[in-house]
Amino acid sequence: MGNNLLSGKRGIIFGALNDMSIAWKVAERAVEEGAIITLSNTALAVRMGTVAELGKNLNAEIIPADATKVEDLEMVFAQSQDILGGKIDFVLHSIGMSPNVRKKRAYDDLDYNLLQSTLDISAISFHKMMQVAKKMDAINEWGSIVALSYVAAQRTLFGYNDMADAKAMLESIARSFGYIYGREKNVRVNTISQSPTLTTAGSGIKGFDGLMDFADRMAPLGNATADECANYCIVMFSDLTRKVTMQNLYHDGGFASMGMSLKAMNQYNKSFENEFKDENGHIIYG
Ligand SMILES: NC(=O)c1ccc[n+]([C@@H]2O[C@H](COP(=O)([O-])OP(=O)(O)OC[C@H]3O[C@@H](n4cnc5c(N)ncnc54)[C@H](O)[C@@H]3O)[C@@H](O)[C@H]2O)c1
Repeated sequence: MGNNLLSGKRGIIFGALNDMSIAWKVAERAVEEGAIITLSNTALAVRMGTVAELGKNLNAEIIPADATKVEDLEMVFAQSQDILGGKIDFVLHSIGMSPNVRKKRAYDDLDYNLLQSTLDISAISFHKMMQVAKKMDAINEWGSIVALSYVAAQRTLFGYNDMADAKAMLESIARSFGYIYGREKNVRVNTISQSPTLTTAGSGIKGFDGLMDFADRMAPLGNATADECANYCIVMFSDLTRKVTMQNLYHDGGFASMGMSLKAMNQYNKSFENEFKDENGHIIYG
């Protein structure tokens, strides 16, 4: 049940592919909170995924667009204002993809053309989105723009590959654009750094099950779910957070501040259960 936190607001949600997508949950919660929205994803994702079903359920139009193409983004902002009847109050960038990860190219064997694509899709698209919106003056004063990030921007996590670089860039763009957009239009820009979450993008990461389990054991509050992430996005879109900008906001149950937890230590110690010492005190693994 909603609390009308977004009553009267207009939003654009980029990146809902299927009902596991974080953007899907955000779209549902935004409408529940009284917003009217449009949805956008690539033409391929619209064909392959189930976003049409979401659009029908939420009475939201779907505007196919490649977020790396400025002309496509111009169309999304123009059409969304037409459809929704005015300037936009909130935008969610929930877009990420690494062709290097898809093609199993290791971080020390990257294809540089693919790296350009990773950065363009997962980070520069956020800049393009905001530059287009600002030039078109498509966002209302005190509007809120959020992109989804991951702690690999700050810390090295096995298997996250070139997406770590993309997330670092994404968070930097939020600060750099947030300064200008705040100064000139009172629009706020933040990233939410979410726990590992089982989605189509998430499960592309090497060793994802182990990563999810590890993060869950480390975080005192456990991993944050996609539904919980949606709640946080709603608060960031609402008028309750008008002076929060240029921040990377951890939504990870406390993971980012941890070094070692009892739960993770217990699991780690189990790996030594079959450990023996020879007569010289040297460890022999069973
Ligand atoms: N799942 C996780 O563990 C996790 C953790 C932290 C952050 N995130 C971030 O959350 C965001 C959403 O991912 P998700 O986990 O919901 O997975 P998802 O696969 O459901 O969403 C990724 C979306 O990006 C879209 N996309 C890819 N290329 C695009 C392009 N050129 N133009 C427009 N859209 C494009 C895809 O179609 C898809 O809808 C991503 O930025 C991801 O990095 C995910």
